[in-house]
Amino acid sequence: MQAQSHELSPKDILSYSNGKKVRFFHVDGEHTPEFLTSDLKLATACIDARGVICLDDMLHAGYPTLAVTVHEFLATEPSLRVFCIIDREDISAQTKYMICREPMFDFYIDQLLRAFPHNIWPLGADFRYEKKALVLARDPQLPNFDDLL
Ligand SMILES: C[S@@+](CC[C@H](N)C(=O)[O-])C[C@H]1O[C@@H](n2cnc3c(N)ncnc32)[C@H](O)[C@@H]1O
Repeated sequence: MQAQSHELSPKDILSYSNGKKVRFFHVDGEHTPEFLTSDLKLATACIDARGVICLDDMLHAGYPTLAVTVHEFLATEPSLRVFCIIDREDISAQTKYMICREPMFDFYIDQLLRAFPHNIWPLGADFRYEKKALVLARDPQLPNFDDLL
């Protein structure tokens, strides 16, 4: 479907999936607060109970306020949680946030821990939940500051 995402309704999206709710919704459209908020609302209305919303270009040097928009949106949707940050560390392949409904939080973390045991950054991501979200990275080493002295 080629369309302006802010002109789409959940019904438009679900008409492409025989009315079934969406398992994976990737957002990588217009990087403004207004459009991102609209895309987040659309994605949230379309995902099923186990669905995942993946947001591209979070923490991007060129779009430093995108993450702020996400956090403002999440404050209005407490049923959603960021369960993983994928740190791709490249200006053209930027960090992604992975979001699910709160009851699926542990499930997806456990699955990713099993699938990518060598890519877990040990400190995790602090979203102020009672448990940290996962951070996946290509080379998830902790810096050794003693080496710099
Ligand atoms: C970086 S590209 C996404 C590439 C895509 N994620 C992929 O892997 O093929 C961003 C795309 O978002 C589209 N886009 C930007 N604003 C949009 C909007 N308001 N509605 C729909 N698409 C939009 C652009 O035309 C462009 O194709």
